[in-house]
Amino acid sequence: MTSTISTRTTNFSAGPAILPESVIQQAQQDLWNLDETGIGLLEHSHRDKSITRIFDEAKQLCREVGNVPDDFEVLFLHGGASMQFAMIPMAFLDSGKSADYANTGTWTNKAIKEARRFGDVNVVWDGNESNYNSIPELDSIQWDSKAAYSYYCSNNTIYGTRWARTPSTPTPLISDMSSEMYSRPIDWDSHDMVYAGAQKNLGPAGVAVVIIRKSLLEKASTDNPSMFRYDIHAKQESMFNTPPVFAVYFVGKVFAWIKSQGGLVSMEQMNDRKAAHVYDAIDNSGGFFTGHSDAKDRSTMNITFRCPNEELEAAFIKEAAEHEMVNLKGHRSVGGLRASTYNAFPESGCLKLAEFMNEFARKNG
Ligand SMILES: Cc1ncc(COP(=O)(O)O)c(C=O)c1O
Repeated sequence: MTSTISTRTTNFSAGPAILPESVIQQAQQDLWNLDETGIGLLEHSHRDKSITRIFDEAKQLCREVGNVPDDFEVLFLHGGASMQFAMIPMAFLDSGKSADYANTGTWTNKAIKEARRFGDVNVVWDGNESNYNSIPELDSIQWDSKAAYSYYCSNNTIYGTRWARTPSTPTPLISDMSSEMYSRPIDWDSHDMVYAGAQKNLGPAGVAVVIIRKSLLEKASTDNPSMFRYDIHAKQESMFNTPPVFAVYFVGKVFAWIKSQGGLVSMEQMNDRKAAHVYDAIDNSGGFFTGHSDAKDRSTMNITFRCPNEELEAAFIKEAAEHEMVNLKGHRSVGGLRASTYNAFPESGCLKLAEFMNEFARKNG
């Protein structure tokens, strides 16, 4: 079923964000009564068959939809993406080693800060000077062949930039894909671990989806507290302690929804087309709207742009809300406007925004 705007407000939130309507409707039913058990989804023990089946299915669909190779493990962990900022260096940044980080914005800054608690960080590229409005040329980065691992964020939610291609690194490559996981196919040959806090493209807050190559997992330190050990979570099938059942249930249903939409290749085509409607409105505005990201590095998930001044930006947000389009304010570190158009965001919403932008520029330009 294709998502439509129906009676709901057009929600451009950067996260938590719009989710597929059919999944929300199914969840409403299952919260009340799961599988005709007479018990709601959140009232079952996580050891019940109904719940272990939900976990098995979510994992299997994650593999199938993402085309995840057999030598990767799929984990559902607590703590969102931010816990991974710490858990990664705890597991892999051995003493005396350093890790390579490409710094493309707020979320990599936070990851770097956490990694520095555990060891040395080598910032191989830093976009700070231009307020993170671009992604480095792949061959301009010198990745250290002795690093414990290499790290980047594939889509920068706040700035609206993304890595169009995956960097090639001499050491295990780890990517924060929080704001774009499963919006396009993943190059598994180049990555050793990818992860995402689910609450943008995959489901509700409360779970991080972590997909990790087994050969990297085997290298994870076993000295850390149990909750911070990838090996324990893998051995316990992501049920070491009481897991975030609702979030895992939901991401499983979202994986099934992505499959019903034709999978990741279709998702990518759809996302390209959706984003192009809004970028065209920026580019065809005669300079009224300006994009924050370099055109070559534009994200299809988070579209960041400005009006000629802040008064017009405030008027834009107000008038858009009168047309039932909300959450268009940019993040405070960039200012301006941001339209987040994740997988579940319908193309009709992008067309509606583009039309509104054209009219707004005509009236105020
Ligand atoms: C790219 C990226 N990484 C990490 C995070 C932090 O996610 P969480 O709140 O799940 O820790 C966000 C949140 O917006 C994000 O956009």
